Amino acid sequence: MKSKPTPPLAIAVAALALLSGFAVQLQAADSKDEETIKEVMKSYHKAPKGTDPVCKKASNGQASKEELAKLVAGYRELCDTKPPKGDAASWKEKTKKLLAAAESLEKGTPGGLEAYKEAVNCKACHSTHKPE
Ligand code: HEC
Repeated sequence: MKSKPTPPLAIAVAALALLSGFAVQLQAADSKDEETIKEVMKSYHKAPKGTDPVCKKASNGQASKEELAKLVAGYRELCDTKPPKGDAASWKEKTKKLLAAAESLEKGTPGGLEAYKEAVNCKACHSTHKPE
Protein backbone atom coordinates (compact mmCIF):
# COMPACT_ATOMS: atom_id res chain seq x y z
CA MET A 1 0.00 0.00 0.00
CA LYS A 2 1.27 3.42 -0.95
CA SER A 3 1.85 5.87 1.88
CA LYS A 4 -0.98 8.37 1.88
CA PRO A 5 -0.22 12.03 1.42
CA THR A 6 -1.14 14.17 4.42
CA PRO A 7 -4.78 15.11 4.03
CA PRO A 8 -5.27 18.82 3.38
CA LEU A 9 -7.61 19.01 6.35
CA ALA A 10 -4.82 18.01 8.74
CA ILE A 11 -2.62 20.76 7.31
CA ALA A 12 -5.41 23.29 7.67
CA VAL A 13 -6.05 22.30 11.26
CA ALA A 14 -2.34 22.51 12.10
CA ALA A 15 -2.06 25.93 10.45
CA LEU A 16 -5.12 27.18 12.27
CA ALA A 17 -3.78 25.99 15.62
CA LEU A 18 -0.50 27.76 14.93
CA LEU A 19 -2.23 30.96 13.89
CA SER A 20 -4.63 31.07 16.80
CA GLY A 21 -1.77 30.49 19.24
CA PHE A 22 -0.04 33.46 17.70
CA ALA A 23 -3.16 35.60 17.89
CA VAL A 24 -3.66 34.75 21.56
CA GLN A 25 -0.11 35.87 22.28
CA LEU A 26 -0.60 39.16 20.49
CA GLN A 27 -3.82 39.74 22.36
CA ALA A 28 -2.21 39.05 25.71
CA ALA A 29 0.38 41.75 25.08
CA ASP A 30 -2.26 44.27 24.06
CA SER A 31 -4.72 43.54 26.81
CA LYS A 32 -2.07 44.01 29.49
CA ASP A 33 -1.67 47.60 28.37
CA GLU A 34 -5.43 47.96 28.28
CA GLU A 35 -5.68 46.67 31.83
CA THR A 36 -3.09 49.20 32.96
CA ILE A 37 -4.89 52.06 31.23
CA LYS A 38 -8.27 51.05 32.66
CA GLU A 39 -6.76 50.67 36.10
CA VAL A 40 -5.25 54.18 36.00
CA MET A 41 -8.57 55.61 34.74
CA LYS A 42 -10.55 53.89 37.47
CA SER A 43 -8.08 54.70 40.25
CA TYR A 44 -7.42 58.36 39.51
CA HIS A 45 -9.93 59.70 37.01
CA LYS A 46 -13.05 58.16 38.44
CA ALA A 47 -14.43 57.99 41.96
CA PRO A 48 -17.46 56.51 43.70
CA LYS A 49 -20.56 58.74 43.66
CA GLY A 50 -20.31 61.63 46.07
CA THR A 51 -16.52 61.68 46.25
CA ASP A 52 -14.02 63.54 44.10
CA PRO A 53 -11.63 61.61 41.89
CA VAL A 54 -7.93 62.26 42.51
CA CYS A 55 -7.68 64.13 39.21
CA LYS A 56 -10.33 66.60 40.37
CA LYS A 57 -8.65 67.19 43.70
CA ALA A 58 -5.37 67.63 41.88
CA SER A 59 -6.97 70.19 39.53
CA ASN A 60 -8.26 72.10 42.55
CA GLY A 61 -4.92 71.98 44.29
CA GLN A 62 -6.45 69.84 47.03
CA ALA A 63 -4.74 66.50 46.49
CA SER A 64 -2.58 65.26 49.34
CA LYS A 65 1.12 64.46 48.96
CA GLU A 66 0.30 60.73 48.98
CA GLU A 67 -2.37 61.15 46.32
CA LEU A 68 -0.02 63.10 44.09
CA ALA A 69 2.72 60.52 44.55
CA LYS A 70 0.30 57.75 43.50
CA LEU A 71 -0.92 59.83 40.58
CA VAL A 72 2.63 60.31 39.34
CA ALA A 73 3.29 56.56 39.66
CA GLY A 74 0.08 55.79 37.76
CA TYR A 75 0.92 58.17 34.93
CA ARG A 76 4.42 56.74 34.77
CA GLU A 77 2.84 53.34 34.04
CA LEU A 78 0.53 54.96 31.53
CA CYS A 79 3.53 56.32 29.63
CA ASP A 80 4.79 52.76 29.11
CA THR A 81 1.59 51.54 27.47
CA LYS A 82 0.47 51.49 23.87
CA PRO A 83 -2.88 53.08 23.12
CA PRO A 84 -5.77 50.73 22.21
CA LYS A 85 -6.57 53.18 19.42
CA GLY A 86 -4.90 56.03 17.58
CA ASP A 87 -1.38 57.15 16.86
CA ALA A 88 1.43 56.00 19.20
CA ALA A 89 3.24 59.35 18.92
CA SER A 90 0.15 61.28 19.94
CA TRP A 91 -0.36 58.91 22.88
CA LYS A 92 3.22 59.38 23.98
CA GLU A 93 2.90 63.15 23.85
CA LYS A 94 -0.35 63.18 25.85
CA THR A 95 0.79 60.74 28.52
CA LYS A 96 4.16 62.47 28.92
CA LYS A 97 2.39 65.79 29.36
CA LEU A 98 0.19 64.26 32.05
CA LEU A 99 3.17 62.79 33.85
CA ALA A 100 5.18 66.02 33.67
CA ALA A 101 2.22 68.07 34.92
CA ALA A 102 1.55 65.68 37.82
CA GLU A 103 5.25 65.79 38.71
CA SER A 104 5.22 69.57 38.86
CA LEU A 105 2.12 69.43 41.08
CA GLU A 106 3.98 67.05 43.36
CA LYS A 107 7.00 69.33 43.48
CA GLY A 108 4.88 72.46 43.72
CA THR A 109 6.40 74.01 40.60
CA PRO A 110 4.60 77.21 39.57
CA GLY A 111 2.28 76.63 36.62
CA GLY A 112 1.70 73.01 37.62
CA LEU A 113 -2.04 73.46 38.12
CA GLU A 114 -2.57 75.03 34.70
CA ALA A 115 -0.42 72.39 33.03
CA TYR A 116 -2.31 69.60 34.76
CA LYS A 117 -5.75 70.96 33.93
CA GLU A 118 -4.78 71.16 30.30
CA ALA A 119 -3.15 67.71 30.21
CA VAL A 120 -5.98 65.86 31.94
CA ASN A 121 -8.49 66.78 29.23
CA CYS A 122 -10.65 63.64 29.16
CA LYS A 123 -12.42 64.37 25.93
CA ALA A 124 -9.35 65.34 23.92
CA CYS A 125 -7.67 62.07 24.76
CA HIS A 126 -10.74 59.82 24.61
CA SER A 127 -11.82 61.10 21.21
CA THR A 128 -8.43 60.12 19.78
CA HIS A 129 -7.46 57.05 21.79
CA LYS A 130 -10.45 55.43 23.45
CA PRO A 131 -12.08 52.61 21.47
CA GLU A 132 -15.87 52.79 21.07
C1 HEC B 1 -3.95 60.55 27.99
C2 HEC B 1 -5.22 60.05 27.55
C3 HEC B 1 -6.41 60.02 28.48
C4 HEC B 1 -6.85 61.01 29.32
C5 HEC B 1 -6.27 62.41 29.54
C6 HEC B 1 -8.04 60.50 29.97
N1 HEC B 1 -8.30 59.22 29.55
FE1 HEC B 1 -9.78 57.99 30.25
N2 HEC B 1 -9.21 56.54 28.93
C7 HEC B 1 -8.17 56.64 28.03
C8 HEC B 1 -8.15 55.46 27.18
C9 HEC B 1 -7.18 55.17 26.07
C10 HEC B 1 -9.20 54.64 27.62
C11 HEC B 1 -9.64 53.29 27.03
C12 HEC B 1 -8.97 52.12 27.69
C13 HEC B 1 -9.38 50.82 27.00
O1 HEC B 1 -10.60 50.58 26.87
O2 HEC B 1 -8.51 50.08 26.60
C14 HEC B 1 -9.84 55.35 28.73
C15 HEC B 1 -10.91 54.85 29.47
C16 HEC B 1 -11.54 55.50 30.51
C17 HEC B 1 -12.58 54.94 31.33
C18 HEC B 1 -13.15 53.54 31.22
C19 HEC B 1 -12.31 52.60 32.05
C20 HEC B 1 -12.77 51.15 31.95
O3 HEC B 1 -12.72 50.47 32.98
O4 HEC B 1 -13.15 50.73 30.86
C21 HEC B 1 -12.97 55.92 32.23
C22 HEC B 1 -14.03 55.83 33.29
C23 HEC B 1 -12.14 57.09 31.95
N3 HEC B 1 -11.28 56.79 30.92
C24 HEC B 1 -12.26 58.29 32.61
C25 HEC B 1 -11.50 59.42 32.32
C26 HEC B 1 -11.76 60.74 32.87
C27 HEC B 1 -12.91 61.08 33.79
C28 HEC B 1 -10.79 61.56 32.37
C29 HEC B 1 -10.58 63.05 32.62
C30 HEC B 1 -10.59 63.51 33.98
C31 HEC B 1 -9.92 60.75 31.52
N4 HEC B 1 -10.39 59.47 31.49
C32 HEC B 1 -8.80 61.23 30.87
C33 HEC B 1 -7.28 57.70 27.92
C34 HEC B 1 -7.34 58.90 28.62
